[in-house]
Amino acid sequence: MTILTSVASLEIDELTKTYGRTKALDGVSFSAGRGVIGLLGPNGAGKTTLLRMVATVLAPDSGSLRLLGLDPADPAQRIDIRRRLGYLPQSPGLYAGFTPFDLVDYVAVLKEHTDRDWRRDETRRVLESVGLADVMHQKIRRLSGGMKQRVALAAAMVGSPDLLVLDEPANGLDPDQRLQLRSLLSQSSTVLMSTHNISEVGALCQSVYVMFSGRVRFAGTPAELAGLAAGRVWEDDSQDPRAIRSWMTATGAFRHLGEPPAGAQVVDPTLDDGYLFLARQEHR
Ligand SMILES: Nc1ncnc2c1ncn2[C@@H]1O[C@H](COP(=O)(O)OP(=O)(O)OP(=O)(O)O)[C@@H](O)[C@H]1O
Ligand SMILES: [Mg+2]
Repeated sequence: MTILTSVASLEIDELTKTYGRTKALDGVSFSAGRGVIGLLGPNGAGKTTLLRMVATVLAPDSGSLRLLGLDPADPAQRIDIRRRLGYLPQSPGLYAGFTPFDLVDYVAVLKEHTDRDWRRDETRRVLESVGLADVMHQKIRRLSGGMKQRVALAAAMVGSPDLLVLDEPANGLDPDQRLQLRSLLSQSSTVLMSTHNISEVGALCQSVYVMFSGRVRFAGTPAELAGLAAGRVWEDDSQDPRAIRSWMTATGAFRHLGEPPAGAQVVDPTLDDGYLFLARQEHR
């Protein structure tokens, strides 16, 4: 399914990438416009591989991309894309001897922001927006894990890029900072982000793609993902062996996924239910 949008920020056509015998991407296509786009899928599904291509770090073996209307395979257009792109890798390598201020300022230099005063103000702005005002002049090696993640986020966001590519951005963030991240991202223009946190997708994303084994198996809205499990979730005091999946909830009841038996207490599906239903079909 294609999500129709007025101007496509991302047009991705039949991307493939093979590492040895592993097909990391096996014909991935989609197009998306402005807004926050979520990428879900199990470990090894190909999310990071896809995000690295959108970040122009990795070229596909075959297939094509258009990012902000430009072609990253063309060196001149690739430079134009990079000027307008912010990227948070899954494991950002930060210079531990730098301060957050120096690091974000350095990234701004790489993005060809030559006005020193503008850079200073912008560096402060993004570091304040991720709650690092107090530590911006301390060495990065002295910061906590979640703070380091926020330094990397600030570096991705410097200059308010038109396209933000974020690989598990909420990784290691405390609940307060997760909320803060949500409001930051909802103000950005186009964001493509991977996450293992399904509730993040429900709270933030206008569209969601679910990948399994290098392919996109679902494209739609978060509500449509939850809707996959409509009429297929029921709760009971005891475990039902007829369910294809069942798990105990916080209240001690059992939640079941599958074809509900007659008289079952069918409940509204959540995003998790939709995702689990999809994953189950994938592994049948
Ligand atoms: N540089 C590489 N060399 C060899 N294999 C790789 C390389 N990068 C990725 N792969 C393989 O490609 C597949 C997809 O990996 P990828 O990192 O894109 O998954 P992912 O969806 O991001 O997973 P995770 O949720 O664990 O981050 C995996 O089988 C992985 O082992
Ligand atoms: Mg990954």
